Amino acid sequence: MGIRRVGILTGGGDCPGLNAVIRAVVRKGMDIYGYQIVGVMEGWRGMMMEGLSQPLDLDKISGILPKGGTILGTSRTNPFKDPDGGEVIARNLKQMELDALIAVGGDDTIGVANRLYEEYNVNVVGVPKTIDNDLAGTDYTFGFDTAINIVMEAIDRLHSTAESHHRVMVVEVMGRDAGWIAVAAGISGGADVILIPEEPYDIDEVCALIQKRHSRGKNFSIIVAAEGAQPRGGEAVLQAAEKDAFGHVRLGGIGNTLSREIEKRTGFETRATVLGHIQRGGSPTAFDRILGTRFGIAAIDLVHQGNFGKMVCLHGLKVEAIPLKDAVAGLRTVDMELYDIAKVFFG
Ligand code: F6P
Repeated sequence: MGIRRVGILTGGGDCPGLNAVIRAVVRKGMDIYGYQIVGVMEGWRGMMMEGLSQPLDLDKISGILPKGGTILGTSRTNPFKDPDGGEVIARNLKQMELDALIAVGGDDTIGVANRLYEEYNVNVVGVPKTIDNDLAGTDYTFGFDTAINIVMEAIDRLHSTAESHHRVMVVEVMGRDAGWIAVAAGISGGADVILIPEEPYDIDEVCALIQKRHSRGKNFSIIVAAEGAQPRGGEAVLQAAEKDAFGHVRLGGIGNTLSREIEKRTGFETRATVLGHIQRGGSPTAFDRILGTRFGIAAIDLVHQGNFGKMVCLHGLKVEAIPLKDAVAGLRTVDMELYDIAKVFFG
């Protein structure tokens, strides 16, 4: 079957670099391959509602490379919450005359793409994004580098105020199931303790590390905690118990919880900073612009080759492709060798 019209959507939490992908798909898809590129709005919600789309052209993508977020909008819509969701999407693709679809997203979005490919024969290609860097099958997702640079800068800034006031500063960062942001930003920002979901913490050990630092003359400390970090034998702190369409609860609050405990146990004045969605906003770094661009080009190349059911990925320095099902087979958690490096600087 010849390809004429290609859809592209962005799903799940937004991240810097999405617009670089869209721009690359449009530039190569239109200019080199002669395709019509259609932007499906608001992730899978747009695919469930025929008509929530717009043709993309060179005008629409002009100037978007440095912009954060996504010009297509996004949502956490899970079409498979509706028993007919798969069929609705397959039907809408026909109605919209889309011969192929590029789905840009994290494990939830790629999981939907995989089911559409396996169960409904949809010509789909995936592109991995997430600030969390926790998607299996790729060494990096774009968005992560921007996020860790934002957190690193925040840690740098917190150092000076922590030192002036002789305080302990707890920095809460994103990372529901994987602590990549905490570890990478913590190492680059010089954190004194880093807490991640992969290794439950003991509050007494955290306090002992802070006390050790203070006993060698340092009168301030920086603790970086991923939102999903849990105490040994305990649970991560919930911000909201209700689950989203993919079954995720909303985490948040560990910064304040830790701050109270540390102050109570050590007597050191402690403050919490919750970076929240600042980590997802704003202009992408050069690394994320380049990775997004390379992924966009690779995705439209896969479409051109008719190589569907794949997700583009980064292996070392090379952009390659793996089956969608391998990308959603499990979460990519923190490399514990990297965490061991971070631990050398604890306390
Ligand atoms: O998946 C990306 C992410 O930023 C997570 O780190 C975080 O837990 C979640 O999204 C927050 O989701 P929302 O934007 O829906 O609050």
